[in-house]
Amino acid sequence: MDDLETWLQRVYQADGEHKTLESLYDQWAQDYDQQLWASGNPYIAIATGLVARHLADYDARILDAGCGTGNMALVLHQLGYRNIDGLDPSSGMLAVAQRKEVYQQIHQLYLGTQIALADNSYDAIVAAGVLTHGHAPCESLDGILKLIRAQGIIVFSLSSIAYEEYGFKQKIIELDVAGQWEKLDQSLLFRTYPFSEQEAHLRHWVMAYRKCA
Ligand SMILES: C[S@@+](CC[C@H](N)C(=O)[O-])C[C@H]1O[C@@H](n2cnc3c(N)ncnc32)[C@H](O)[C@@H]1O
Repeated sequence: MDDLETWLQRVYQADGEHKTLESLYDQWAQDYDQQLWASGNPYIAIATGLVARHLADYDARILDAGCGTGNMALVLHQLGYRNIDGLDPSSGMLAVAQRKEVYQQIHQLYLGTQIALADNSYDAIVAAGVLTHGHAPCESLDGILKLIRAQGIIVFSLSSIAYEEYGFKQKIIELDVAGQWEKLDQSLLFRTYPFSEQEAHLRHWVMAYRKCA
């Protein structure tokens, strides 16, 4: 079995190229859960905590964007949320997600400026580990906001590299200035993989926003 660091290096090297990235995640899928939880990456714990802080309605319609093997939805389900859909391009990751039996619907799609789902149809969108360098581009925030109803929330992890070097800083400022959303919460910047020396430089935040009317 290849280790977490080998897989991380491969997926970051793909630099967002759809077919390469999809194929890598398809291959990683069977070992992914064991390696994610063993990695000590706290983003799912923080993101689900922020959802619980800001979303009181357990029947809220939630989209887990870049859901991978479904770990975010698994924890949300354990907290009592019952109306969760998943979205991810990797059929291998989605096959593992399906087995968790926590999604109402699963969509094999990419995030981007346009996402082929109905506008204003979700009360909340969560995204862990996908708004990061070499994965979904910053324009995905435009696509995600279209899918959320007015006053709905978005909770997402964001790597500091994506923020500084992949356009997310400018996109966030643009959405702030346009009054498209208001910030509800932001975690401290945390070390993404606390046990890995090779990935010691990686840092993430988790942020929560409310879509304005
Ligand atoms: C690091 S995994 C995170 C999976 C899951 N959210 C978690 O936290 O365990 C990144 C996921 O993003 C998906 N992904 C990569 N590029 C994407 C894009 N442009 N749009 C949507 N999902 C994407 C991959 O297929 C993969 O399942």
